Amino acid sequence: MRILVLHSDVPPDAPPDEQDTLQQAAAIARTLSENGHEAVCAAFVPDLEATKALVAAAAPDLVVNLVESVWGRGIYSPLGAQMLEEIGMRFTGAPSASLATTSNKLLAKRVMRGAGIPTAPWAEGPDWFDLVEGERWIVKSLTEDASLGLDDDAIVTTRADASSRAATSIKRFGGRWFAEAYIDGREFNVAVVERAGRPVVLPIGEMVFSNWEEARPRIVGYAAKWDENASDYHSTPRVFDWAAKEPKLYKQLEELAKKCWLLFGCRGYARIDYRIDGKGQLFVLEVNANPCLEPDAGFAAAASQAGIAYAELIAIVIDAAA
Ligand SMILES: Nc1ncnc2c1ncn2[C@@H]1O[C@H](COP(=O)(O)OP(=O)(O)O)[C@@H](O)[C@H]1O
Ligand SMILES: [Mg+2]
Repeated sequence: MRILVLHSDVPPDAPPDEQDTLQQAAAIARTLSENGHEAVCAAFVPDLEATKALVAAAAPDLVVNLVESVWGRGIYSPLGAQMLEEIGMRFTGAPSASLATTSNKLLAKRVMRGAGIPTAPWAEGPDWFDLVEGERWIVKSLTEDASLGLDDDAIVTTRADASSRAATSIKRFGGRWFAEAYIDGREFNVAVVERAGRPVVLPIGEMVFSNWEEARPRIVGYAAKWDENASDYHSTPRVFDWAAKEPKLYKQLEELAKKCWLLFGCRGYARIDYRIDGKGQLFVLEVNANPCLEPDAGFAAAASQAGIAYAELIAIVIDAAA
């Protein structure tokens, strides 16, 4: 097949979480070529006529949609999918409506709450009325992913501190910020792929906090995800060996991930992030409808645990394109 790998238009000086899209695009194009396809990469330009012209020139059988941020903002991630839908072009991954719903963390939480899927309590400015003072809350972006703006100081216990942290983050990163109850406990990532139209859960990874200073909040912050020189990066390994010891928990995570997949209308691949509190109560942190497909990221690691090599993973994603 002729395949167009469409990725975010990332300027050379963009932060590492955005550069990541280019690495994904290159790795996928290389893998597709090795699999006998003809693959070309192109940056998405948020203009319908330009996208039409790009697709007409490339004349692909399908598009791999890796458009994550547009104008540097995650909130516009559905634009690529929307234009491909408008053109009537077959593409990989979630439809635009799923991207729009899941990339707005508050809307996704409301949808989950309505469907009876456990999600942590939250509070919003300007009055932060639902923030119970004295408990711990994490101030996070409504629309950005990649742990943008998340470090130890994102944890607050008062409405005044939530308000000033949100103001600082808005100044630095723009967008809207809210506070979510800090769930002190284990963290899991559940990678899901579509096979024969059904969601299939890949081996579930736990993010472990190793040699973590007792007093520090346990969060996989920006440094832990992106700064290879930071100690946090090396202190948050992903492990898979817990599963055999806790089949009941495994089953719960698996069932809930499938529910989220159906609820948000995911397609091809998705990753659901969870935390579990000290009492064993599960909370869905977020549904990633377009998780990172880089060869060394968590999704490919989960596939590899299932004996699915990277090339096969990409073939599965391509197969599910619609
Ligand atoms: N409510 C929470 N309780 C504890 N940790 C959290 C909470 N929300 C986020 N985190 C931490 O921050 C990380 C990133 O948050 P997440 O909601 O997954 O957003 P994203 O990955 O899109 O940036 C999580 O992996 C987790 O370590
Ligand atoms: Mg996450």
